[in-house]
Amino acid sequence: MHYTVEPAPVGNAAVTVPGDKSISHRALMLGAIADGETQVGGFLAGEDCLATLDAFRAMGVAIERPEATTVRITGVGRSGLAAPEAELDLGNSGTAMRLMAGLLSGQPFDSTLTGDASLTGRPMQRIITPLKQMGARIDSRNGKPPLTIRGRCPLDPVHYDMPVASAQVKSALLLAGLYAGGETTVVEPAVTRDHTERMLGAMGVAVARDGCRISMTGGQSPGGRALSVPADLSSATFVMLAALLSPRADVLIRNVGVNPTRTGVLEILKDMGADLTLENEARLGEEPVADIRVRSSRLTGGAVDPGLVSLAIDEFPALFVAAAAAEGETVFSGLEELRVKESDRIAAMAGGLGSLGVEVRELADGAIVRGGRFRSGTVDSHGDHRVAMALAVAGTIADGPVIVRDVEAVDTSFPGFVPLLTDLGAAITVGGEDLP
Ligand code: S3P
Repeated sequence: MHYTVEPAPVGNAAVTVPGDKSISHRALMLGAIADGETQVGGFLAGEDCLATLDAFRAMGVAIERPEATTVRITGVGRSGLAAPEAELDLGNSGTAMRLMAGLLSGQPFDSTLTGDASLTGRPMQRIITPLKQMGARIDSRNGKPPLTIRGRCPLDPVHYDMPVASAQVKSALLLAGLYAGGETTVVEPAVTRDHTERMLGAMGVAVARDGCRISMTGGQSPGGRALSVPADLSSATFVMLAALLSPRADVLIRNVGVNPTRTGVLEILKDMGADLTLENEARLGEEPVADIRVRSSRLTGGAVDPGLVSLAIDEFPALFVAAAAAEGETVFSGLEELRVKESDRIAAMAGGLGSLGVEVRELADGAIVRGGRFRSGTVDSHGDHRVAMALAVAGTIADGPVIVRDVEAVDTSFPGFVPLLTDLGAAITVGGEDLP
């Protein structure tokens, strides 16, 4: 499948983007092992989260979906999951695989986790090493999926200094920590998204946080409750980008999650000169939310603060496009983790922007992007949802049509991306395998 994007700027509108992917995954996982019922509103009905939902159904959890974005989970309790009869296929989702590896390490049965071509190429040693220290036995293909997990309960508690800043690793260890006989402590090298800690707390599990050190005592059980998922700031970023690049846009994106462990993108864009304001700041359960107002802006390049990388980790494909449309040069560094996301995002973005005539110098841990114009061209998403959406937005202000190939993965995180951008004024058509 491909997109053909004709140049057409976005205009004025108020929109709502789908629910947060990270929070939707966590709601399913914690709801499944909770005591009692958990009703989740604003759930992301994207392919990644639906794969996680199916995986829990395969472990005996009753999950209803009265509406596309509402799920009702009848929690089976900490020890109530049933051994799955077949491999659990988690599609494209690193979050599902890493967090579930933690959860399944504490079960008294074996399970196998697998996924698509992208996921089975991603590094899992980062969770295998600490989970083995806790007593799980995990077989992999040289540190990559499929993972066969021979769980144990109770697990041994650990004190683990994480070598990489990763919310997925931290969360895997906290989920395993629920099944440990004692206190588990995780120390992160930089602050990463803290949705797991917040949701555990909201469900009655005591989690102590002191800067980058997070501790919890095993044996606690989450209690089912009503959870509301804010709109995903990572998806909102593509709408912000389209509005910023357009000559006369004023767009309001409603009810977006603005947890401070996620808002690095707002700071980076503001540093580049973006006209972004938060309105109606409120709380949705344990998560802060706001409406984001974004207006067309003249962006300027500069050196992006590497201290913001872990707070904006998924937003760099969009930020590369912002840099390519900005005046002057933008230097990105500290991005080595981008090479092991759904694709090698540094290479994918350098290749895509290069095909649109933008000068990008790839670095081992980042890139130097020289601002300019986008010319017409054909680009490859490398099967990566965020690369596809970032390059499609570049097409809205290109000199001519931009074709983005291999865009199926957009549905993993942002179902409805094309109709939403079209409502804003963009001209995107979806085509089949054959390119025009
Ligand atoms: C996520 C954490 C991040 C992020 C991913 C979602 C999460 O991954 O890139 O899209 O839900 O915990 P890492 O922890 O690997 O950085």
